[in-house]
Amino acid sequence: MSFGIYIHWPFCKSKCPYCDFNSHVSQSIDIELWRAAYLKSLAYGAGKTPDRIVESVFFGGGTPSLMPPDLVADILAAIQRHWRVANDWEVTLEANPTSFEIEKFEAFRAAGVNRVSIGVQSLYEGDLKFLGREHSPDQARFAISEAQKIFDRTSFDLIYARPNQTVEAWRRELDEALSLSKGHLSLYQLTIEKGTPFFTRHARKEFTIPEQDLAADLYDVTQEVLEQAGMPAYEVSNHAVLGQESRHNLIYWQYGEYLGIGPGAHGRVVLDGQRYSTRDHRAPDIWLERVSQTSNGLQGQEALTLEAQFQECLMMGMRLRDGVPVSRLEPFCGGNVFSLLDRKSYDHLVTGGVMEDMSFMQEKTLRTTPQGFKCLNAVLGYLLS
Ligand SMILES: C[S@@+](CC[C@H](N)C(=O)[O-])C[C@H]1O[C@@H](n2cnc3c(N)ncnc32)[C@H](O)[C@@H]1O
Ligand code: SF4
Repeated sequence: MSFGIYIHWPFCKSKCPYCDFNSHVSQSIDIELWRAAYLKSLAYGAGKTPDRIVESVFFGGGTPSLMPPDLVADILAAIQRHWRVANDWEVTLEANPTSFEIEKFEAFRAAGVNRVSIGVQSLYEGDLKFLGREHSPDQARFAISEAQKIFDRTSFDLIYARPNQTVEAWRRELDEALSLSKGHLSLYQLTIEKGTPFFTRHARKEFTIPEQDLAADLYDVTQEVLEQAGMPAYEVSNHAVLGQESRHNLIYWQYGEYLGIGPGAHGRVVLDGQRYSTRDHRAPDIWLERVSQTSNGLQGQEALTLEAQFQECLMMGMRLRDGVPVSRLEPFCGGNVFSLLDRKSYDHLVTGGVMEDMSFMQEKTLRTTPQGFKCLNAVLGYLLS
């Protein structure tokens, strides 16, 4: 089974008003304490999973490009001491496109990072201001081109379905994004998350986001433009030319195994044939304290029932364009997916044109049609109800 390691860095320079990730603004960060805590947590994780081959490491956040490069280097060196790593392992770091961070790209590469994912969000000045970003479109363009000179692989994120966004303007932005991209783009629809400043401002009607019809048009144009450019969606929000997919995220979607290390990080590990979900303490100071007082930052660990694993495997796998091969689900359902899925619901989804008919497939796979991919949550809800 594939195996990856997620490292969460929970700090940002400022908090974006739409973001509900576990990210915090802190005046003082004691790097030596964090270094010791990451290394201790990795040693603990390695003790549980010594024989795995690490295929990917992902530094996510927060803003991991604010990490000192020597801390990234120490974490990667520790991983190489504890485990065998694949020759072609993927080491991704999320980066924000400010000049301070661009200057560190060379040092990150020297530390072992071979892929960066840059949070561009928009190529329009006004929209970046609205999103509370600290960079300009030109800085974003510069960050992308510098990253492409330095790293083997790059990706960047855009957020669409923004207030007042027209289909034409989004098409132009996508065209520019494609001209800048080297094979991977993450395109997220703006979601208004509870507990964020955007949630309050949206509730007060200070701004509106595109209604369902316009949002659907924006989604459709995204698929059309990216497909024409040879970068179809391989996952709900992720587009790549063949071979440039994020291997780390594929581990999640294909229900592989991963350690989650750092405040709020989640993991899925198989110990003695039993799959566990793990979750680290969310608050940075508590995580740090727990790791220094014990051997790890775990808040909880739960043995997943076969039915829970079946549901997770299905929900993650259906996010992929390729769907979920039935063979991946069989270990969780005694070899018969219809012991846990309602056959009638499935047939109904097939006749409704939102799921493909497995009976014609050589490798039996649960997969949506392009129509069903658009309303994946509804399809999953129906299939699992
Ligand atoms: C962990 S976050 C951010 C990484 C990095 N700190 C940054 O801001 O560039 C990963 C991505 O999630 C997306 N994202 C975060 N909150 C979102 C929201 N409310 N709606 C849509 N996309 C969101 C953004 O595109 C962001 O780049
Ligand atoms: S979007 Fe990125 S930079 Fe902004 S608060 Fe969230 S994690 Fe931090």
